[in-house]
Amino acid sequence: MSQPPLRLGIAGLGTVGMGVVRILRQHPELIEARTGRPVTLSAVSARARDKDRGVSLASYGWEDDPVALATRDDVDVFVELIGGDSGPARDAVEAAIAAGKHVVTANKALLALHGQALAEQAEAAGRALRYEAAVAGGIPVIKSLGEGLAGNEITRVMGVMNGTCNYILTRMESAGLTYEAAFAEADGLGYLEADPQLDVGGIDAAHKLAILAALAFGTKVDFAGIELEGIGRISFDDIRAAGDMGYRVKLLGVAQMTGRGLEQRMQPCLVPATSPLGLLEGGTNMVVIEGDAVGQIVLRGPGAGAGPTASAVLSDICDIARGWTGPVFGQPATTLAAANRAIAQTPAPYYLRMSLDDKPGALAKIAAVLGEAGVSIDRMRQYGRHDTAAPVLIVTHKTTPAALSGALEAMGSTGVLATDPVALRIEEV
Ligand code: HSE
Repeated sequence: MSQPPLRLGIAGLGTVGMGVVRILRQHPELIEARTGRPVTLSAVSARARDKDRGVSLASYGWEDDPVALATRDDVDVFVELIGGDSGPARDAVEAAIAAGKHVVTANKALLALHGQALAEQAEAAGRALRYEAAVAGGIPVIKSLGEGLAGNEITRVMGVMNGTCNYILTRMESAGLTYEAAFAEADGLGYLEADPQLDVGGIDAAHKLAILAALAFGTKVDFAGIELEGIGRISFDDIRAAGDMGYRVKLLGVAQMTGRGLEQRMQPCLVPATSPLGLLEGGTNMVVIEGDAVGQIVLRGPGAGAGPTASAVLSDICDIARGWTGPVFGQPATTLAAANRAIAQTPAPYYLRMSLDDKPGALAKIAAVLGEAGVSIDRMRQYGRHDTAAPVLIVTHKTTPAALSGALEAMGSTGVLATDPVALRIEEV
């Protein structure tokens, strides 16, 4: 005898919510065959009831209030696609768990800021809280880390996890655009979040990194522990110069466990142009995971959009339908360790771009300052003079961020800089 249906309530009928509705309508047999039970939609909730969404929702119940949806008797799984780290999304998720419902969410901000408390609440109630769609859209990275790599000690997780930033950076490069022009193009295409700073300020990607770090290292999610910088200071000059030296600029998230604690960085970095991360174009996402047994794996795919994100939501729904409801962050939430934050000190090569007054001894002064700070030059290139200044690029050997900062500060006193130097970390991948 077939099992009773798993009944859903979906809150939020934007791009992703309607993507989920479409998959449920397209593939009911496939989902039942794979999970062993029908998965049905009982009711939905959104801000505007009468909006034309291209699909009739007349056969589903309606709630104006997502909390009312989350607690309905005919809902077994509350699917939260509202977004935002507080307000209705958080209220409804908490209410759903309190009412004994499982929860599926795509809400990275909610998990990055309140993941620990929600995980403890869900696990105490014996309910699932699943979030495959919260990180890297259609890429099954949560499943990969939590299940596929469960036998590994994870050593490093890296990723390009904001498609909008990667689109802006790759368009600057391919079309020779300024940051402002590429930003305006992304805006015109509807890529930017309602608050664009979530994208270009690196916050959206940092939310995702915080979630991956918790899962990878068995630590409480620690968004505040991320060293965060967006892409606003990246110029076309840097993109071109990095390309000349064999690199591409990416907004890269890196989480790694060191002897000093957990380093989490979200910042523009250079990566080798021919590496998988260097080859990443447009809005595509990539996550690179390194484990002691598996070595390195690379996951690449669409990080946003109706189909890819709904695909990830369905993955969680199907798992719950199968009865697979493991711990939220890969081990019981009460056993997760506090993230022992470490200021980023892992040595790396650095790219430096500067404009020097074109006069005798200028370069020697810069070389001396680097030498005194213990920073060794690996490669250097000087371009023809522009006006009265000479553009100079330097790639250093591995050095610590502290040594590099010391060198940059000392450079300011040399009196030979025509403009402030730009320094970007080169992540070895
Ligand atoms: N704004 C995000 C991006 C969408 O550009 O990747 C998914 O979080």
